[in-house]
Amino acid sequence: MQKLLIKGKKELKGNITISGSKNATLPILAASLLTSEIKLTNVPLVKDIFTMIELLKFIGVEIKVKKKNKKNVIELKNSKKNINTLAPYKLVKTMRAGVLVLGPLLSKYKKAKVSLPGGCAIGTRPVDLHLFALKKLGAKIKIKDGYIIAEAKKGLFGSKIKFPSVSVGATENALLAAYGATGKTVLYNCAVEPEILDLVSFLKKLGSKIKIFGRKISVIGKNFENPKITHKIIFDRIEAGTYLIAGALLGKKLIIKNINSKILSYEIQILKKMGAKIIVNKDTIIISKFEKLKRINVSTKPFPGFPTDLQAQLMVLMTQANGVSKIKENIFENRFMHVPELKRMGAKIEIKNKTAYIFGPSKLTGAEVMATDLRASVSLVLAGLIADNRTIINRIYHLDRGYEQLENKLDRCKAEIKRI
Ligand code: UD1
Repeated sequence: MQKLLIKGKKELKGNITISGSKNATLPILAASLLTSEIKLTNVPLVKDIFTMIELLKFIGVEIKVKKKNKKNVIELKNSKKNINTLAPYKLVKTMRAGVLVLGPLLSKYKKAKVSLPGGCAIGTRPVDLHLFALKKLGAKIKIKDGYIIAEAKKGLFGSKIKFPSVSVGATENALLAAYGATGKTVLYNCAVEPEILDLVSFLKKLGSKIKIFGRKISVIGKNFENPKITHKIIFDRIEAGTYLIAGALLGKKLIIKNINSKILSYEIQILKKMGAKIIVNKDTIIISKFEKLKRINVSTKPFPGFPTDLQAQLMVLMTQANGVSKIKENIFENRFMHVPELKRMGAKIEIKNKTAYIFGPSKLTGAEVMATDLRASVSLVLAGLIADNRTIINRIYHLDRGYEQLENKLDRCKAEIKRI
């Protein structure tokens, strides 16, 4: 099994080009089922994207992945008359986003059988909100043998749907389903993450009329006959945030490129409050290691709040700040699994209920550690980069799910990191 070997304490200098967003690409790939031909550019070629490609191929979409002039392009053709409206367990169990084919399959093909994704390391992660929205649009749904079996014999019909709580995936599934529904759908209490706005701009290119007012989104559906469209995926704000934190820990004028700094404004504000000296331009940020880091309290919240997907990485920065920092995790119930591993490296952290108390500054020393999920594993990479001696990270397949060329990007900035 592959491992990452890191020798810490090296300054990071140079440029890091941020990839396209994994979490924006996944629902847009699912949206390929709603039309006949699309071309996506700036796609991150990471494991989760290949899993979604495998699922769509299983359903019947023809897909080509191309690397042209360092640009990742995916072309999708959905022209078969008879497709398979099934998403099997083996393809959904490793990646929850597989459940996003449910909305488009129901909407266009009027039926779907999709495996329940089950739990995952960071929490139970149910799909009740997805099913709630689809039922409101007229789907008949039952659960049998671990599968969601859904049907809409006469098609879906626009409706008013108020989500009891904010969910990224449920908002996406509802938008994908509403695209093919007859009439107008109004969704209340939606997630409005930048990745959702990217899906909206994609669906608009497909001819759907969509308006957003705060957390309310109205959709007027469209039929499935469209000319070929091309769409460039938005940058990955979580990858950008991860490298900004790396720059705050070890950067010497580290340049983060291919971003939209407006979308990162909350993260930039936090880094500035902690003492960062960063130069923010429209599509690049230059960041250097700060001398005296200040403590801070942060709570994870749906966008525009602080993202849960950057909580583990920020915690590493907090281990270097003066005083006691706090992070309250509001989104997932079990997302502190990186804490025991960070403690093994010398961090002083206590957890009470949903809050982690980080006592800084503490000196980290290299150790052999275990990655437990995608973001937890990258926090261990950050810890390894600032630790004395060698850090070995096991189970790095978690990292490969979402970070494109991580060790190459860091290696080009003079980090000592290699895959063994
Ligand atoms: C997406 C992101 C993930 C990110 C998360 C929160 C993708 C592929 N993944 O995950 O990286 O951490 O948003 O920003 O985009 N919930 C329910 N019932 C449901 C659905 C969700 O109770 O039907 C709960 C979840 O357990 C969680 C909360 O709602 O506590 C938010 O989850 P959600 O926003 O749905 O996350 P995902 O879409 O799974």
